[in-house]
Amino acid sequence: MAIEKTFIMIKPDAVRDRKIGEIVARIERSGLVIERMEMTTLERATVEEHYAHLADKPFFGGLCDFMTSGPVVKMVVSGLSAVAKMRTLMGATNPLDAAPGTIRGDFAVDVNANVIHGSDCLENAEIEIKRFFG
Ligand code: PPS
Repeated sequence: MAIEKTFIMIKPDAVRDRKIGEIVARIERSGLVIERMEMTTLERATVEEHYAHLADKPFFGGLCDFMTSGPVVKMVVSGLSAVAKMRTLMGATNPLDAAPGTIRGDFAVDVNANVIHGSDCLENAEIEIKRFFG
């Protein structure tokens, strides 16, 4: 196992529902370290670039509307196997499949607004950290 950095984003639904503290507490309790954290409202162009691989999906427009509908909290999280560990903490993309005890399993109800994003592999983590933090 190696020390990794991953990109994490608390999405607008969770910020609106005042879940930032609970989500950050879960990340820290897991032993991972929050290296950078900033609340910001995303530019649509940044969101469209981030989800470009989904541009042909019927939900793409709605996803971009949702992700620019209010502030997000973007983070760089580090630690042993941080990419996979965060994916485990987050739970499945579709909250209907997310196990109780995971962030999505406990806080999300809808795949269109599923509380948190985390990089799916180390290569994308590097790209996403650059995209969102420069
Ligand atoms: S990927 O390549 O890992 O991002 O692909 P995937 O795991 O399928 O993630 C899809 C992202 O789109 C968001 N989204 C939806 N997915 C499926 N169905 C619907 N209707 C939908 N609406 C939005 C989903 O939350 C994933 O966002 P991220 O931020 O990557 O978790």
